[in-house]
Amino acid sequence: MPRVPVVIAIFACLLVLVAGALSGSVMAQAPGAQAGGPPPPDGAALYAANCVDCHGPEGDVVPGVDLGHGRFRRATTDPELVGIVLRGIPGTGMPPNNFSEAQASAIVQFLRAKASRAAATAGNGANGRAIFAGKGNCTSCHRVDGVGARTGPDLSEIGRLRHSTDIERSIIEPDFYIIPSNRFVRLVTRDGATLTGRLLNQDTFSVQILDAKEQLQSLQRSNLREFTFIDKSPMPAFRDKLTSQEITDLVSYLVSLKGTAQ
Ligand code: HEC
Ligand code: HEC
Repeated sequence: MPRVPVVIAIFACLLVLVAGALSGSVMAQAPGAQAGGPPPPDGAALYAANCVDCHGPEGDVVPGVDLGHGRFRRATTDPELVGIVLRGIPGTGMPPNNFSEAQASAIVQFLRAKASRAAATAGNGANGRAIFAGKGNCTSCHRVDGVGARTGPDLSEIGRLRHSTDIERSIIEPDFYIIPSNRFVRLVTRDGATLTGRLLNQDTFSVQILDAKEQLQSLQRSNLREFTFIDKSPMPAFRDKLTSQEITDLVSYLVSLKGTAQ
């Protein structure tokens, strides 16, 4: 095996090169953006100048429309909202706008941030934290800042990674949408053993999962007969297990988790 160290050394050099190239490009961009480039669009200012007349400062003036809480009748995702802001809603009082894509998404991010702030104060975060560890038993699958299990995704930064409405939907209806990196797989080996778990990693030769007992399992692809993504979330729906106030409290707690605590 004398070649192995050489291979590792080459690989290490490549990593250093790639890392250098990446940080180099970041470094190269930052000063340019500060010096010459236009400042990023200001979503709050654009909203005030173009939307307040009809929707009001809180986004609740058009009957039946609420722009400030992340609940939209005609859109779920950010790209859908950007589309509405750009193209309007034909046949209604919502006009198209002559914005750049970046301006439209700055307005959408402004509305999302508004919704997060509203969700953070809508419930009692301290009570939400207690439900997370207690009645909801969320820590049996999730961890926050190093406390809890690993079978479900780590939620320490969930308030930074997801919109408040997505967090709420995950609790009420976990099957609605599962982000790809949180998907579970079922593996059947050539000798008939079945394993399920959260997919951590895969490459041409092997697959690594974290099974229900939090054990890392690494399997050779050549040894697998079946590899299927599981559509249903292993997480139970809490719609009927918690009151709506308890869910509001949980969401207030979770949107506050931004990964800053150690
Ligand atoms: C001339 C008045 C007017 C202006 C200006 C206006 N809107 Fe609207 N907007 C409406 C009306 C009316 C509706 C409701 C359309 C419907 O669904 O019948 C609406 C609907 C929407 C919706 C869909 C809401 C939902 O629940 O799906 C979004 C998002 C939206 N507006 C965002 C904006 C943004 C952002 C701006 C500023 C860039 C803006 N609007 C400017 C009148 C306006
Ligand atoms: C039996 C294990 C289990 C329990 C109990 C559980 N979860 Fe989950 N949860 C998961 C798994 C697995 C996922 C990833 C798949 C998915 O998105 O549904 C997940 C996903 C989530 C997500 C979305 C994460 C993301 O990155 O988008 C949130 C938010 C969440 N859970 C909150 C909770 C809360 C709050 C509780 C307690 C009320 C809870 N979970 C209880 C297993 C669990």
